[in-house]
Amino acid sequence: MHVGLKNWLQNQLVFQQIQYKLLLSYLAVLASILGIFTLAVRIFFTHSLNQQLIEKLRTLGQSAANAEVDDGLQKGESDFPLQELIHNHQALQSFDAEGRSINQQGQYILTLPLSHQETIQIQEIGKVRILGVTLPVKSDNGHLMGYVRASQSLEELDETIKKLDWGLGGGVVIALILSGVGGVWLTQESMQPIEQSFQRLKQFTADASHELRSPLTVIKTNVAVALKYPEGIRPTDAEKLEAIADAANQMTRLTEDLLLLARSDQAHSPKRDAVPVEEILHNLVQSYQPQAELKQIHLIKTFHRTSQHPSGQLSVLGDPIQLTRVFANLIENAIQYTPKEGKVEVQTSLTGQQLYVSVKDTGIGIAPEHLNQVFERFWRASEARSYHSGGSGLGLAIAMAIVQNHGGEITLTGQLGIGSCFTVRLPLS
Ligand SMILES: Nc1ncnc2c1ncn2[C@@H]1O[C@H](COP(=O)(O)OP(=O)(O)OP(=O)(O)O)[C@@H](O)[C@H]1O
Ligand SMILES: [Mg+2]
Repeated sequence: MHVGLKNWLQNQLVFQQIQYKLLLSYLAVLASILGIFTLAVRIFFTHSLNQQLIEKLRTLGQSAANAEVDDGLQKGESDFPLQELIHNHQALQSFDAEGRSINQQGQYILTLPLSHQETIQIQEIGKVRILGVTLPVKSDNGHLMGYVRASQSLEELDETIKKLDWGLGGGVVIALILSGVGGVWLTQESMQPIEQSFQRLKQFTADASHELRSPLTVIKTNVAVALKYPEGIRPTDAEKLEAIADAANQMTRLTEDLLLLARSDQAHSPKRDAVPVEEILHNLVQSYQPQAELKQIHLIKTFHRTSQHPSGQLSVLGDPIQLTRVFANLIENAIQYTPKEGKVEVQTSLTGQQLYVSVKDTGIGIAPEHLNQVFERFWRASEARSYHSGGSGLGLAIAMAIVQNHGGEITLTGQLGIGSCFTVRLPLS
């Protein structure tokens, strides 16, 4: 795949992940609000329906009691039309003052023992739940004559609550689906300006680094010219000029690095030349030999040859300058972060169509919790600062960007205090 396109896709993926997270949290909040609301509505409705039913039974019981007081309990007959009781799924029971059953009418009769106060009882008989209200029957002078228990099947109420549940549940699901659709649209709309400003920021970094190059070149050339003819300059001024030249060089490197990173974020693909990796590594090891010798570091290069590629002339498609930069960064780091008399080994090997270049050292190593951070822009371990103070922390970020642009990857293994090993995988041409 085109590498620029791949980078662009990676960015899109990050934005999409943020969008999904936003959408999910929005839906989660909405679902909890709807859930609480639905629960409250359900509790309120069930409670008031129950209350209504109890009130109805109480009235029924009351009128039955009144009728009995009028007729006298002994009669054992009440004027209640049986048809109406059956139609309403209700029943009436009368008891004497000792709680013995005297009479009962209707289908839904409670079999629970009678309670000697005004009570509400619920009993499950078969599949039907029955609600009963017991009322004491008192004569006009307040003398207890017996009890009346009015009951009704809860089938109808349960049916109503079931319908309510379906209605509420369906409403919640439809509301969630609708707000999900709305949420997708909303998050898309709100991500757009963020995406645009992200693009603008990247463009700005690229433009700023590019524009900084010319004034820096002017500073550098002028200082160089001034230092070329030191006769007219005081020795202390010459020192200052050298400091300026150093700073200008450092800044040039930094702006070049930033430009490279900014460009690798945009849809730029590297050149596509056949790059002789072996040769590059050989030259790099030679050119870093003096620096290694200064620290008495043993810098060596080994190559595992296979019968498939006996000559060792392996090439990778890409930009030779950028790839040189990657390996130079790794070798430089290895030398920088390895104490005196250590060892740095550059190794190449082949697996199928993949070329592996590893740079292994016996240096300060990297703590496990920092393994992912080393490739971040401007990140430096605190141990590293005492070893090499001039670094900017961009070297590995650049190496990573270049290798990814070439369709490969960099991995890191190692232990704190024992050493590190950076491995670059690149597809062969
Ligand atoms: N071989 C290594 N051994 C131990 N730590 C390393 C090694 N290579 C890199 N690091 C750690 O990773 C950090 C980032 O490395 P990177 O090359 O990006 O930046 P730098 O070397 O500090 O500065 P620059 O390369 O820009 O001059 C380093 O500061 C160091 O803490
Ligand atoms: Mg470095």
